[in-house]
Amino acid sequence: MSESSPVPAIGILSASLSPTSRSRLLAEAARAELAAQGIETDFIDLREHALPPCDGATAYGDPRVLALKARIEKLDRLLVAAPIYNYDVNAALKNLLELTGQAWRGKLIGFLCAAGGAGSYMAVMTFANSLMLDFRCWIAPRFVYAQPDAFDAAGIINPTVRSRVQELCGVMQRVRL
Ligand SMILES: Cc1cc2nc3c(=O)[nH]c(=O)nc-3n(C[C@H](O)[C@H](O)[C@H](O)COP(=O)(O)O)c2cc1C
Repeated sequence: MSESSPVPAIGILSASLSPTSRSRLLAEAARAELAAQGIETDFIDLREHALPPCDGATAYGDPRVLALKARIEKLDRLLVAAPIYNYDVNAALKNLLELTGQAWRGKLIGFLCAAGGAGSYMAVMTFANSLMLDFRCWIAPRFVYAQPDAFDAAGIINPTVRSRVQELCGVMQRVRL
C-alpha cells in the first residue's frame, strides 16, 4: 500500500496453481480495470508462494507463511480469484486461509471464480461463510462466475463476464468499511 495513494491499495489474490489458469485471467482483468481507474493493487499469485500444508502447529511459524500473512494484513479490500474444485474453492486457497486466518479479519472480499460448468455456481459460499463467521469479513454481494467458454488463451472473450468484472471492481471501491 503506497502512502502517496489517495485510495488504499486493493489486493488481488490469484489462488489457482494451474499454469493455464482461467481464474488468473479474471484476476488480471480486475487488475487492468482498477489500474485504468488509477487504483493501486497488490497482486498476490499463489503460484509464487510454496506454502506448507496447514498442520495447526509449526506451519504458522514458517517464514513464507509469515511474509504472506503480513502482506494480507495490510489490505482492507481483497479480490479473490479462485478455481472451483469439487464444489468448493481449491485446496490451495483453503490452505492459505487456514494458515493466515486472522490476517483476513474485517476485510471486504470479492470473488472471481472460474469453473468447469454452471452447476457449481454457489460453490464459493462455504468459503465465504467461513470468512463472515470466523473473521467478520464483508462479502461483496456480487461475484464473477465464469465457465471455460468465456475465455480464449489471452483473456476474457465473454462481454457479460467482462462487464461483471468491471462492476465488481466498482463495488470494491464504493463500499465503506
Ligand atoms: C480437481 C478438479 C476439480 C474440479 N471440480 C469442479 C467442480 O466441482 N465444479 C466445476 O464447475 N468445475 C470443476 N472443475 C473445473 C475447474 O473449475 C475449471 O477447470 C477452472 O477453470 C479451474 O480454474 P483455473 O483455470 O483458474 O485453475 C474442477 C477441476 C479440477 C482440476
